[in-house]
Amino acid sequence: MTGIEFNRHIEKIPIYPAASTYAFEGELVKLASNETPYAPHPQVLEAVEAQLRTLNRYPDPEKSALRRRISERTGVPIGNVAVGNGSCEILLAAAAAMLEPGAEIVYAWPSFSMYPQLAAMSGARAVTVPLTDSGEHDLEAMAAQVTAATRLVIVCNPNNPTATALAPATIDAWVAELPRHVAVVLDEAYVEFSALQDPDDSLDLVGRHPNLVLLRTFSKVYGLCGLRVGYALGSEEFRLAVDRVRQPFSVNSLALAAATEALNHVDEVERRVEQTAIERMHVETELEERGLETTDSQANFSWVSLGDRDEAEVLRGLSERGVIVRGGTALGEEGHFRVSYGTRPENDRFLAALNEVL
Ligand SMILES: Cc1ncc(COP(=O)(O)O)c(C=O)c1O
Repeated sequence: MTGIEFNRHIEKIPIYPAASTYAFEGELVKLASNETPYAPHPQVLEAVEAQLRTLNRYPDPEKSALRRRISERTGVPIGNVAVGNGSCEILLAAAAAMLEPGAEIVYAWPSFSMYPQLAAMSGARAVTVPLTDSGEHDLEAMAAQVTAATRLVIVCNPNNPTATALAPATIDAWVAELPRHVAVVLDEAYVEFSALQDPDDSLDLVGRHPNLVLLRTFSKVYGLCGLRVGYALGSEEFRLAVDRVRQPFSVNSLALAAATEALNHVDEVERRVEQTAIERMHVETELEERGLETTDSQANFSWVSLGDRDEAEVLRGLSERGVIVRGGTALGEEGHFRVSYGTRPENDRFLAALNEVL
């Protein structure tokens, strides 16, 4: 023990668990983090390379070029666009700006593993609302938990880890009924993959509800998670608040250049979404043939129910064969696992390993 005193919230903050890997000599198939298996667009890589010679300079604290480009793409005014070091940074900043002891945050569970951290770090009370039997958000039950102390409600759509999604019209009607003192964060990290909507469909919600914040990322379909960049569309008040509580240079110059260029290649995004839908169909059909149930995936991963099979044993078996997925127990519901879609050969290695394990 060092004798150093830490603040009283720190012990409550869960440590992000790395997906377990067992001894395996060959090439691992990593299907545990909902990454895309496709490399960034060549012109995105060129934009990054062009920035390498400016690394002696701090990045633009205003993130102007990227915010302008996002504003042009979405129609949301530039003053209402916040850019972060991954969308996670914006979630953390929202918690720092809005939560404190005595305040409440409402979110569904199981959902994204970052949300429990927001309450824990701020001393706010976390109010978790179970998903429905089909793994969807129970919006009515969530609304029933809103009190005068609620500052933040998060809806993860599509939801990580269950991959289910709600249509924007459903969320629109629901937000309209919530009191205005509550900020609603609509976390759309996987929205591009949803067959229930065009990603542009939910942009209208930002203009209609001043208390709504739409959270998006370049980590998933754009394939830039290694650089860490995400953004929020909401009120200017929200953007200024999250800018106040974090350092001005949190988004590095390579990330800014890459994300700005990535927005010029929407055709590439569409191609990836189509490819992902093909892989989703392949993986889900094969899982079904093995008698395993999945939820209705609108994302780049499946949430697989193991029935009465032993989760730890299945994970160990896959891992020993070099296939890494994320176990349900670590994500909030035992007896499941979440598998991201890789390339066809990766998915087939996962399915072959699963055959042996089952
Ligand atoms: C629902 C959800 N939101 C946000 C994120 C964070 O993404 P970023 O890489 O932009 O911080 C993730 C990443 O897995 C996620 O699953």
